[in-house]
Amino acid sequence: MAKVKSKYVCQNCGYESAGYLGKCPDCGSWSSFVEELSENSSDKIVLNIPDNTPPMTLSEIEMNSEIRVKTNISEFDRVLGGGIVQGSLVLIAGDPGIGKSTILLQAGGALCNDGKTILYVSAEESAGQVKLRAERLGVKSDHLYIYPQTNFELIRKHIEEMKPDLVIVDSIQAIYTNTIQSSAGSVSQIRECCNSLMGIAKTNNISIIVIGHVTKEGNIAGPKVLEHMVDTVIQFEGDKYKSYRILRSVKNRFGNTSEVGIFEMGAKGLVEIVNPSQAFLKEYNQTQTPGSTIIVTNEGTRPLLVEVQALVGATPYPAPRRVANGVDLSRVLQILAVLEKRIGLNLSKQDVYVNVIGGIDVNEPAGDLGIALAIITCVRDVVFDPQTAIVGEIGLSGEIRGVNHIDKRITEAEKLGFKKIIIPEANEIQEKNKKIEVIKVKRIIEAITKAGGK
Ligand code: TYD
Ligand code: MG
Repeated sequence: MAKVKSKYVCQNCGYESAGYLGKCPDCGSWSSFVEELSENSSDKIVLNIPDNTPPMTLSEIEMNSEIRVKTNISEFDRVLGGGIVQGSLVLIAGDPGIGKSTILLQAGGALCNDGKTILYVSAEESAGQVKLRAERLGVKSDHLYIYPQTNFELIRKHIEEMKPDLVIVDSIQAIYTNTIQSSAGSVSQIRECCNSLMGIAKTNNISIIVIGHVTKEGNIAGPKVLEHMVDTVIQFEGDKYKSYRILRSVKNRFGNTSEVGIFEMGAKGLVEIVNPSQAFLKEYNQTQTPGSTIIVTNEGTRPLLVEVQALVGATPYPAPRRVANGVDLSRVLQILAVLEKRIGLNLSKQDVYVNVIGGIDVNEPAGDLGIALAIITCVRDVVFDPQTAIVGEIGLSGEIRGVNHIDKRITEAEKLGFKKIIIPEANEIQEKNKKIEVIKVKRIIEAITKAGGK
């Protein structure tokens, strides 16, 4: 007889304790402990994985190159590292309503057209709802099986009977296994279901994609452990209220991380954006206002041109406000400190707002100089040359530091018709014969004078 015990589990990181704790000693989150019931561990069900791989030396291992299945949605394949690796477990995480179900139904539909069999486990929506969406997306196929089910044991039975090429589980938070008594969505349930799905993927060599919601703190809901367990984690980002969506690979055992794919949500689902820089700059070319610059950021292996806007004005508040959207606030604060100290810009009584257009997050310091010039041109009320793109990291003494992938960035700016690009002096350019004029700068002051933003 299994003995039922109770334990308290942190819903953020999965830390277990015999009694209730106010603060998690592992991840530091407060009030995150929830009581869960567990079977005695000695009665735990062991995965039935055959022991057919004895320990071996590297030279004994036969190399079978991974088999990748392409979804033919090229931006999705690119993020996966060139398609879904057979037998892998992929997690797609993102806020509710961002488009996770949509992209996977589209990918499922595209794969079916290639003669693959897909099992779409819909644990959140009825079969009718999925059909409605499929009709909207124009997905039709006799090889796409929709299975509205939340019970893991039944899902496993159908996967093992049907042996599809790909299983989509929408979502991991909505399914539960009978072997654990806590409710669906709890850390123990998520962990157990995910673990078992990993077992199914590896033993049957079936690819499985699971959808996971993100908590309001930005963690992949349920526990961080989910991230550790799967082969690949793909984050779906972007503003729910704007149309751009960005797929970003944050972990990939079979490919490059921080690779991005860019989509736009339309009336017929997600459409790939083949030339994202052009899309991001669409409005820039129409409105040229003071406080707006173009930076070349690097996302994964791909350079992207995005517009940065700054607004600086006298503050009506006792303490001036600093707001950053699409860029790290601490980065902006550092840039402001350098501008005050090194070029004497007095911002102590000014509110500063910095915004990156297009819903993309600029997470690298190469955007510093562009942000600084946006702030400076706004303070001085001049329009920055719209034909000049900007790249460079700002050091604390006001020096401009070199950035990586400089050639790719220059080529992208040239491709989009920019006449000039400001880059750090320290960067060596390998590819010569560029049509675009390259302006090298060492200090912020130089960037202002050389670019004509007086
Ligand atoms: P959905 O894929 O259901 O999000 P998730 O599974 O991540 O929760 O997408 C939901 C949003 O996308 C919803 O607000 C409606 C919108 N949408 C479109 O704009 N066009 C479409 O063709 C579809 C299917 C959805
Ligand atoms: Mg959904």
